Amino acid sequence: MPPPTGGHILFIHVLSLLLSFVSAQDLSVPTSWRKPSTSRPLSERISISQDAINSILPQLDSATAEFNGIGYWQAGNVWTAIANHDYFVGTDKNKALVVNNLNTAFKLNAHYDKYGYNDDALWWAQGALSGYRAYKDQNLLSHAVDTWNEVTNYVITEADAQSQKQPKKNFAIASTCNGATMAGGVFWRPTADDQGINSITTGLYLSTSAFLAEITGDPKYTKAAVLSAQWIKAHNINADGIILDSVNGHDCTRSPSNWLFTYNSGKFIEGLSVLASVTKDSQWIDLMVHTVAAAVKSSAWQGSDGIITEGASTTSNNDGVGFKAIFIRGLYEAFSRNPRNANLRVLLRSYVDVQYNALLDLAANKSTYSSSWHGPPQAFTTWGQLASLDVLGSAIRINS
Ligand SMILES: *[C@@H]1O[C@H](CO)[C@@H](O)[C@H](O)[C@H]1NC(C)=O
Repeated sequence: MPPPTGGHILFIHVLSLLLSFVSAQDLSVPTSWRKPSTSRPLSERISISQDAINSILPQLDSATAEFNGIGYWQAGNVWTAIANHDYFVGTDKNKALVVNNLNTAFKLNAHYDKYGYNDDALWWAQGALSGYRAYKDQNLLSHAVDTWNEVTNYVITEADAQSQKQPKKNFAIASTCNGATMAGGVFWRPTADDQGINSITTGLYLSTSAFLAEITGDPKYTKAAVLSAQWIKAHNINADGIILDSVNGHDCTRSPSNWLFTYNSGKFIEGLSVLASVTKDSQWIDLMVHTVAAAVKSSAWQGSDGIITEGASTTSNNDGVGFKAIFIRGLYEAFSRNPRNANLRVLLRSYVDVQYNALLDLAANKSTYSSSWHGPPQAFTTWGQLASLDVLGSAIRINS
C-alpha cells in the first residue's frame, strides 16, 4: 500500500474533526440547576416510590384497568411505571396487579386500541413490555407482539413510499418530504383519511420494535426500528437537536416549530438507547447523546433551575401533564444502557435528581404530588400522581 497522499491526510483530518464534532457534546451539568443530587438511602427511595404507587391505586377501576381522573393512554403509562418500579427494585410485589390489569385492557380493547389511535395502542404495548421485562410473563409479551403486528399495518414501507400508496390509507402519500423518504413514518391514526404522522407514534414504534428485537432476536424488528429511527432523524429534529411533533403524510405540511414536547425527545432517546444495544451501531448512540444533551437543557420546558415546567396543571388533567414522565423514563433507559459514558451518566443523574428534589421539596403532600413540580403542594390529583411515578422510580437506580 502506498503512503497516504496529502489528499488522504486532509480527508482523514476532516473526518476526525467531524467525528470529534459529533462526539463533543456539552454534557456538563449547569451550575444553575437546583439540587442535582440526593443523599436519601436506597431503602428510602424505594418506599417513596412504592408509597406514590399506593396513593394512585384507589383511583383504579379494575373492570377497565383505567384510573379515575386520567385518560386511556395515561393509564397505560401508570402500568409501565409500576412494572418498572418492580424491575428497578427487583421484586414482584406489584406483579398480580400489573399483569391482571394489562390482561383486562387487552381483552376489552382489540390490539390495545380503544379509540382509534396507534399511539394509544403502543403505550399499552409498552406497558406490557415493561411487565414482561419485570416478571417474564409470556402473555404480556404476546400482547405486545399482537399490537406491534397491528400497528405495522400503518407504517410507510419503502415500497409504499415509492408507489405513493399505503394500503390502509385512501389518499396519495408523499414519497418524500424535503428530499427525504417518508419510509419509516407511522400514521398516528388507523382512520383511512387521517394523514397525520408524528414523532410520538413513530418513536413508540421504534422503541417497541427495538425492545422486541432485543427480546426475540428477530431481525424484522431491528429493520423496523432502524427505518423508523431514520424517519425521525431525517424529518423531525430541529436545529437545536430537539424532536419536533408531526408531518402530514400527504402534503408534507408540518406542525408549528414551537410545538416542542418533552415526550417526543424522551421516547426517541429511549428507542435509540435500545436500538444501539441491539445493533451496536455507534450512529444511534451518537444521535441519542446529541438528543439528550439538547433536551435536558432546552429552554422550551424549563428555566435555569432545570425543573420541568411543562404540563403543570393544578386544576384539570390534559395530555401534556403526562409528557414529562415519558421523558424521564427515556432518560433512565439511556442511563442504564451506557455504563461507561461517565459524563452522560452524571448529566442524566443530575437532571433526574433535580426533578426528584423538586417533587419532594416543593410539590409533595405526604406521598402525593402536584403536577406543578415547582409546587406548591396541593390535594391529590390522579394526573399529578401519574406524572411523578417515573421520576420516583428512576431515582431508585439512577442514584447509588
Ligand atoms: C394535602 O392533601 C389532602 C388530601 O388530598 C388535602 O385535604 C390537603 O388540603 C392537602 N394539603 C395542601 C397543603 O394542599
